[in-house]
Amino acid sequence: MVIEKICCLGAGYVGGPTCSVIALKCPNIKVTVCDKSVERINQWNSDKLPIYEPGLDDVVRQCRGKNLFFSTDIAQGIQEADLIFISVNTPTKTFGNGKGRAADLKYVESAARMIADLATSNKIVVEKSTVPVKAAEIIMKILRANTKPGVNYQILSNPEFLAEGTAIVDLIEAERVLIGGEDTPDGQKAIQELCWVYEHWIPAKNILTTNTWSSELSKLAANAFLAQRISSINSLSAVCEATGADVSEVARAVGRDSRIGPKFLEASIGFGGSCFQKDILNLIYLCECLNLPEVAAYWQQVLNLNDYQKIRFTRKVIESLFNTVTDKNIAVLGFSFKKNTGDTRESPAIYVSQTLLDEGAKLNIYDPKVEPDQIMYELTNPYVTSEPEIVKKNVEIHDTAYSAVTGAHAIVLCTEWDEFKTLDFQKIYEVMMKPAYIFDGRKILNHERLQNIGFHVQTIGKRLNRMPSNRAQGSQTMP
Ligand code: NAD
Ligand code: UDX
Repeated sequence: MVIEKICCLGAGYVGGPTCSVIALKCPNIKVTVCDKSVERINQWNSDKLPIYEPGLDDVVRQCRGKNLFFSTDIAQGIQEADLIFISVNTPTKTFGNGKGRAADLKYVESAARMIADLATSNKIVVEKSTVPVKAAEIIMKILRANTKPGVNYQILSNPEFLAEGTAIVDLIEAERVLIGGEDTPDGQKAIQELCWVYEHWIPAKNILTTNTWSSELSKLAANAFLAQRISSINSLSAVCEATGADVSEVARAVGRDSRIGPKFLEASIGFGGSCFQKDILNLIYLCECLNLPEVAAYWQQVLNLNDYQKIRFTRKVIESLFNTVTDKNIAVLGFSFKKNTGDTRESPAIYVSQTLLDEGAKLNIYDPKVEPDQIMYELTNPYVTSEPEIVKKNVEIHDTAYSAVTGAHAIVLCTEWDEFKTLDFQKIYEVMMKPAYIFDGRKILNHERLQNIGFHVQTIGKRLNRMPSNRAQGSQTMP
């Protein structure tokens, strides 16, 4: 079979960009991205896409209406497609068996059932969502138990490795594409057909093929390894603050060893995003089910350390402000979980903000890309607060960093947006309450310059011993 039509179930952070790039690179393939959310599809069909991702607008503009379509007509999408990506969300279960750890596969299951109900011809079904090992078996069971005469299915695993904020580059210049399938002639044929799609732009040597279970586990493993590096460097940031070492210098020295490498060694207020925590919990649950408690405990510690880092940072903010932030104005700069995305899922800024609010602070929040409603949604969520009205009263969302910092006792920088590096801190100092504090949770500011202006500065993984030039009082270290 030559793939002429592709359908993707799930028009989210993965389905949207991935299929847009496939459409760009494979002009002869018709790509239809379907979602059950009418609102999301309407946004994909508008000038304001539902997600902010550098370069995405351009790709969509080039292909939409030609060979790229966004639709709620799931039936048509499924029926006409030769190959179907399942790219739906796989959140952590919030109740029942495996609550708080296992991946909730209800959306994957519903996608499989839709395919089973609607398909009238052979399909290659590709698991793009991140799933526990053996999830393909669930999809297979559903499809094969409902097969209509003359309809055959092949199930592949093709996990996605893009990172938000760099998704388009990650997709266009993918270091590797991973495809897992059954070790049968039909399974191998299906793998080759998906390889053919990617070979439109990815060198064949970068396309790895394997069996289904290895492919599924590799995705969880890759995220676990990346998160583990961040927790490792964050653990050392605490040692640096206690000893006078500088975590950036330690990362530079350690990363020079080519066996270790320099990437993903940026100490921070902790990792966020929709993937790392969820996928490690997924791995932990898998290990527990496999009766491997030591392995589960090993990966659990990566998450524990991440929580510790967020708690440690926030506690220092409060302690430095004379152990009380009640009625103090605090400017929170950055709310997304990293720069160049408007995504707030598991953003460390949520924990920081929530804790400061619980302590009675008034927050002035500014983020260049997160919509105000999204910030309010995160902070008034029942998992975060039982008093949404009080939160609404104490949170103001600002259009610029300058308006957020006016009258503030402290700035808490939570996201490493480039624009924060070039703010006029002299001007900011003048409009803040004194002593003026900056807590740089991303190590992106010029601390010496800030101290020269008169700020009390604290950051991650480095003791800033020098008093500010105006000798204002305040603790300078994170003991
Ligand atoms: P998302 O929440 O942004 O998008 C998922 C979409 O699927 C939603 O719009 C939802 O309405 C839709 N959906 C759910 N069930 C459906 C159904 N039966 N039919 C049609 N649409 C349906 O999620 P995401 O961030 O795109 O993640 C999708 C998967 O990819 C997850 O498993 C995630 O772990 C994985 N992943 C995410 C990233 C990332 O950076 N976000 C990277 C790699 C892998
Ligand atoms: C991650 C993986 O990188 C990607 O391969 C996978 O497909 C999805 O999950 P994403 O969560 O979008 O991507 O972003 P990533 O760049 O990995 O950052 C995750 C979090 O770790 C962010 O909060 C980021 O600020 C933080 N981080 C990253 C650090 O604190 N230090 C680092 O050195 C790198």
